[in-house]
Amino acid sequence: MDYKQYIAHKLTIEGVSAEEIAAAIALPPNSEMGDYALPCFKFAKVMRKSPVMIAEELKTSFITDDVISEVSAVNGYLNFKVNKSGLADNVLNRILAEGESYGSSDIGSGKTICIDYSSVNIAKPFHIGHLSTTVIGGALYKIYKFLGYNVVGINHLGDYGTQFGKLISAYKRWGNREEVQSGGIHAINDLYVRFNNEADEQMENEAREYFRLIESGDKEANELFEWFKELTLEYVKEIYKKLNITFDSYAGERFYTDKMQPVIDELKEKNLLKESNGAQIVDLEPYGMSPCLILRSDGASLYATRDLAAAVYRKNTYDFYKCLYVVAYQQNLHFKQVFKVLELMGKDWAKDLVHVAYGMVSLEDGAMSTRKGKVVWLEDVINKCVEKAYAIINEKNPDLENKKETAQLVGIGAVIFGALYNNKIKDIVFSYDKVLSFEGETSVYVQYTCARANSVLSKCEGEFAVPQSYSPNAQESEVIKSLAAFPGMVRDAAEKYEPSYIARYAVDLAQKYNKFYIDCKILTAEGDAKDFRLSLTKATLYTLKNALSLLGIGVPEKM
Ligand code: ARG
Repeated sequence: MDYKQYIAHKLTIEGVSAEEIAAAIALPPNSEMGDYALPCFKFAKVMRKSPVMIAEELKTSFITDDVISEVSAVNGYLNFKVNKSGLADNVLNRILAEGESYGSSDIGSGKTICIDYSSVNIAKPFHIGHLSTTVIGGALYKIYKFLGYNVVGINHLGDYGTQFGKLISAYKRWGNREEVQSGGIHAINDLYVRFNNEADEQMENEAREYFRLIESGDKEANELFEWFKELTLEYVKEIYKKLNITFDSYAGERFYTDKMQPVIDELKEKNLLKESNGAQIVDLEPYGMSPCLILRSDGASLYATRDLAAAVYRKNTYDFYKCLYVVAYQQNLHFKQVFKVLELMGKDWAKDLVHVAYGMVSLEDGAMSTRKGKVVWLEDVINKCVEKAYAIINEKNPDLENKKETAQLVGIGAVIFGALYNNKIKDIVFSYDKVLSFEGETSVYVQYTCARANSVLSKCEGEFAVPQSYSPNAQESEVIKSLAAFPGMVRDAAEKYEPSYIARYAVDLAQKYNKFYIDCKILTAEGDAKDFRLSLTKATLYTLKNALSLLGIGVPEKM
């Protein structure tokens, strides 16, 4: 049961929806006060009353029942107490029955969400700067699916631009088919870096000519371009596989080549296009923004032009309820401009476009430098994390079977979790030691808790069921409340585009379970207590696994 929802539906506040009430309900700092609390100052404005009065009034009209056994109004807060034994059997029975689908729902049914994420650049390094968009987008993809939405994952490839002309020029000069074929993206990147280091005026002109050839459909230029693209995609798909990331579309910038003209025509028709120094722009000064560049003076389209065409295409193709762009905050202005232009074009769905911005990731030793050749490849970060995980596991538990597979799950989990644990807008410094710590706020800690729960369950002989009307002790109650909060947490994470909520939730539940584990006997307990504790253990294991799997992280049986 989702208690916040349950309480919210029993309250009526004019002008405030049950969803909004549920979102305002919090866990009080001290569980003596209650299990849930509604701060009433949030409604003082709509209700034109003091929070203290609001709390009093709501208290009087609230009818307690089998689920919520007590309500009190204290200093403008409405506090609720949950019927503990009722809560316990409800939650545990529900989790044991629902298992892997506990926390899922169908609130999204009939709605489509497009998520533009990872969006790699062809022939450029896939580096640690792409980690956040990839794992935040990947987690949102899974979270929305879990809530019943139809989700379309889009990799808006950076496959358009003069850099491909440069690459062809470099390849023709210094390249070799076998070397590039076997060296893949690294060989391509070397050619590109070499071009940038050595190019003179003549080579730059040659590169422009090759780009023009791609654009005009020249066979050889296009074959080379497609080959570079294929090699890049082969490479990134391996990494996506490791990170449990999937896409439904790889329609990149190039895909919109023939879809921009209708948008440009429409802009003209609606009198939105202006000339400025030979370029075509949409003036956004009235909205406090610099102009949105649509066509350069040589007639070439821009990044924004392709995003306008892409948004229109996605609306027409998927009829999305929302379209999310998981892109670094450095592109804030770009998305504000694109969304504004669409709004000015009269697209009422422009309000459904969301820039899900995130902060920067750097490595502890400051290695994320943009200086040529000093890029940190994401692949290397993943490999290093898996290696380190192996070393730790080998030291802690040398006799473990499947050490290699376990190190994969632990190492990759740590990379993902490290990027997801903080509120997404924060800049983060990635530290191998920190993300791999068994004791910290890490996926390793959560996975270890799962292994502990697994081990308890594997030692239990015979069946067990949730006992009726068992009165849980303090440690057990904390676990139960946390378990009950999971479905609401998944919805909050979706609503705020914050996978970090789920990451934090998993750590919190694991901490509560471990406190219980240390303080209470399980296998040696008697009667109802033993059944209850085994049920609690199994329910915790399901819930932790569900939480991690929404982030793309697997759980080893043993660690
Ligand atoms: N390829 C771009 C970059 O690396 C990100 C693209 C994001 N998506 C979009 N529709 N603009 O900066």
